[in-house]
Amino acid sequence: MKGLVLAGGSGTRLRPITSTSAKQLVPVANKPILFYGLESLAESGIREVGIIVGDTAEEVSAAVGDGKRWGLDVTYLPQAAPLGLAHCVLVARDFLGGDDFVMYLGDNLLTQGIDGFVEAFETERGSARAAGRQPPVAQILLARVPDPHRFGVAELDASGRVVRLVEKPVDPPSDLALVGVYLFDSTIHQAVAAIRPSARGELEITDAIQWLLENGHRVNSQVVQGYWKDLGQREALLEGNRLVLESVEPRVEGLVDAESRLEGRVVVEQGARIVRSVVRGPAIVGEGSVVEDSFVGPFTSIYRDCRIVRSEIEHSVVMASATIVDIGRLVDSLIGNRVTVARNEQRPKALRLMLGDHSRVDLA
Ligand code: TTP
Repeated sequence: MKGLVLAGGSGTRLRPITSTSAKQLVPVANKPILFYGLESLAESGIREVGIIVGDTAEEVSAAVGDGKRWGLDVTYLPQAAPLGLAHCVLVARDFLGGDDFVMYLGDNLLTQGIDGFVEAFETERGSARAAGRQPPVAQILLARVPDPHRFGVAELDASGRVVRLVEKPVDPPSDLALVGVYLFDSTIHQAVAAIRPSARGELEITDAIQWLLENGHRVNSQVVQGYWKDLGQREALLEGNRLVLESVEPRVEGLVDAESRLEGRVVVEQGARIVRSVVRGPAIVGEGSVVEDSFVGPFTSIYRDCRIVRSEIEHSVVMASATIVDIGRLVDSLIGNRVTVARNEQRPKALRLMLGDHSRVDLA
């Protein structure tokens, strides 16, 4: 079994972060989102992984390298334009050959791992063949959601077999949304070759799976046990960060001076310095970052080489080398690489901004 990880796309919902960087590399609890997926694939026993890359190919390959760190053998598969999830299968055709594969969306976060998911597919295929029953050619992962009209939704029969898939239905047949992890055998190649682009101009994986169903193939499903989230937008990303932080093991490898206090589940990574400050967990302060005369509140990740001075920050993700100085209180924020947020003491009633395209400032 191979892995196919999707790390291209346009990331419009996470602009301006994605105007210059890959959304799959945004750190969640100081680890790029993509790395959680690669870890899961490695833990399930997969060794050969193809990564679909787009405009941010260089950044993704610089971060992931050859995959040896996870015991993986990584091949990069350039996609000329983000033409859809099923288009990624077309791009990966030669890499995949006739093998079964797990397709994993690189901006999705799952806490349960995929071992059980992969195992169920292999066991079911084996026992179906042995019993002379029709084996499944695909298996999808589903999650119960309160707002199914925003997702691809599955309709199941009484035995849990998938009957139909609908993309963003006005009248959802169930509350079971498609999660970004799929299992396929080589039959999927016929499906992606047969379907046509959707109204938004993309080759949809839901259409490819629907094609499998309509052509008499069997598709199994499993409902996700742990937490799942597509981290493609700010609120979801902050929620994912919060969830992962809740389970990190506290550790202090950097310096915490005598006038500072760490409360609860806090990680201070090597080379970080906490000076005259309070860090209330769950929180993480990354390598080489300095927190001075500040309060870092719960559910906050400060990535590497940041400076937080005379400021309060809570329920936020701060990416590498950002500077936050003299800001009263920052909440629910996603701060990009090398961003500066500072108050000019001489003009406390005015804002002076230099913001990239699609930036967003909410003043409360
Ligand atoms: P999406 O989040 O569905 O799409 P997107 O990344 O273009 O983002 P937005 O909707 O905000 O514009 O993609 C899911 C994952 O699949 C994500 O990691 C990007 C990746 N992807 C590709 O690699 N190629 C593609 O053609 C598409 C559509 C997505």
